[in-house]
Amino acid sequence: MVMSQRGVPKITDCEADVGSGARFVPGGFFISFEGQEGAGKTTQLQLLAQALEHRGWSVLTTREPGGTSLGEELRRLVKHLHGDDTPCPESELLIMAASRVQLLRRVVEPALAAGKIVLCDRFLDSTTAYQGYGRRLNLEFIDRLHAFTVGRRMPDLTILLDLQVAVGAERSRRRGLGEHGEDRFENEQRQFHERVREGFLQLARQVPERIRTVDAGRSPQQVHEEVLRRVDEVLA
Ligand code: TMP
Repeated sequence: MVMSQRGVPKITDCEADVGSGARFVPGGFFISFEGQEGAGKTTQLQLLAQALEHRGWSVLTTREPGGTSLGEELRRLVKHLHGDDTPCPESELLIMAASRVQLLRRVVEPALAAGKIVLCDRFLDSTTAYQGYGRRLNLEFIDRLHAFTVGRRMPDLTILLDLQVAVGAERSRRRGLGEHGEDRFENEQRQFHERVREGFLQLARQVPERIRTVDAGRSPQQVHEEVLRRVDEVLA
């Protein structure tokens, strides 16, 4: 694929904000979490946020689709609109892109400019995996859309939580329905989720310097320890 992928910068030059006692990274540091349903992204993101805050870093957490008023509206529609007028794959792709660019401009970029560590629950790799590999939309077009919406503002580090599809599906089933009821993505066939998983693993093979794969089949604490190690490798 022809995306402009950023490598992982080493951060050697961290600053302390003397007034608040919080620590900031010049230019910010952007970490995305990726993986299928039930992989534990949200739990791991929260555990990492707590660990980093405990060390004094200034952290902002957000999610995709969502994270802004517009994005949260789009999230509800794209995940939970049922009946005759469910989003077709092309609409789904454009809704994800609209939510992402709104989040980037309104939330992520200002936070990075302020020197925060931004943790995002999903980012552009989900679109490649779900709409590209899952829905089989054109991968080159998706790359061009990423270039238009995200451009060079790629995550500095992506943690891919990898899990067997059947295990993830069972975890999601046990979690039950959220406040908006049935989830269109969780209801997809097993083959769809297998393609999504393969899409993520392909991406990780293509950009190993940015995407670090973590085995999510272990206990939350074990996964957290590995996530923290991966982050420490770059956030010295
Ligand atoms: P979740 O992150 O709470 O699991 O819900 C988000 C859902 O949206 C999930 O099923 C994956 C899907 N999704 C896409 O299909 N494409 C995208 O670009 C993003 C960000 C999410």
